[in-house]
Amino acid sequence: MKKIAILTSGGDAPGMNACIRACVRSAINSGLEVYGVDRGYKGLVENRIFPMHSTSVCEIIHRGGTILKSARCLEFKEKETRKIAADNLKALGIEGLVVIGGDGSFTGAKALSDDFGINVVGIPGTIDNDLAYTDFTLGFDTAVNTVLWAINALRDTMTSHDRVSIIKVMGRHCGDIALYAGICGGAEYILVPEIPYDIQKIASEIKTNKERGKTSSIIVLAEGAGNEQEIKTVVSVISGADVKFSTLGHIQRGGTPTMADRMLAAKFGVAAIEILIANKTNRVVGCKGKEIFDLDITEALSQKKQIDKNLYDIAALLC
Ligand code: ADP
Ligand code: F6P
Repeated sequence: MKKIAILTSGGDAPGMNACIRACVRSAINSGLEVYGVDRGYKGLVENRIFPMHSTSVCEIIHRGGTILKSARCLEFKEKETRKIAADNLKALGIEGLVVIGGDGSFTGAKALSDDFGINVVGIPGTIDNDLAYTDFTLGFDTAVNTVLWAINALRDTMTSHDRVSIIKVMGRHCGDIALYAGICGGAEYILVPEIPYDIQKIASEIKTNKERGKTSSIIVLAEGAGNEQEIKTVVSVISGADVKFSTLGHIQRGGTPTMADRMLAAKFGVAAIEILIANKTNRVVGCKGKEIFDLDITEALSQKKQIDKNLYDIAALLC
């Protein structure tokens, strides 16, 4: 293996830049030539593949987003489109590809490897933490800390005015951002798509609490766990509380990566390059505790993400 390329795909995540830096620097320091791909699979198909040097990744370790940019490329699901991408890589003599992204990006990488023999390695990069095989994905820790900052700020003002706050957070189908931020922010209620809840019961409890003197609560609502307007109406009507709704939206996707995400970026990046140098293909890297491991991409994708019920129960005990 002499030449490799790196791309970022799917939704961006804080720590992607630190990971690009780790891949580029560790590959160059191991004697490889490195190329970057502009805007994920779209750039691969459109042949926007350019050489990267050690200096290409200066001053990016602390920046959110991705200097390689990201894009959706639905045509990549077609084999003929993937052939164009593979031909572009082969024309440059590139044998290995690092894909930083989520499960969709991994599926694309696997198809590229299966059909056209490109050695691929996936690095989990998404704020959602929705990949079952790894404890954490790159960007999750930063996103949770961003949500925590917002919960802290909301708690200040909600307490002053005896209000109830509903804060909606991202996660697609996965409640991890809500769960982790809810526990660490001391939220009274955490609503996630994986676990059914009774909003009427919650609203009645808020009413009882109010009568007992607890006049303010925080409800963290994960994306996919219910309609915010409906929840707001039920809670205000039943509890009589003044309910305010806030959504962080894409604020959760940006910002300087935390120490945890930068460390993960460094470890994932170095591990991915080692895998390519060892001529392994169709692998993904992940972490369990402090350990970094690699796994077959098909096996990784076949694992079904589940909410950590233990953490959910802890949350219930703490409010
Ligand atoms: P994520 O990687 O964060 O899950 P997406 O699901 O949007 O994000 O996938 C990112 C990209 O991966 C898509 O735009 C597409 O180019 C590629 N991709 C997704 N699913 C497939 C698939 N089944 N086959 C080939 N490529 C895919
Ligand atoms: O996968 C990351 C994520 O931010 C999800 O949490 C969210 O559902 C989705 O991407 C939003 O996608 P877009 O940036 O295309 O609106």
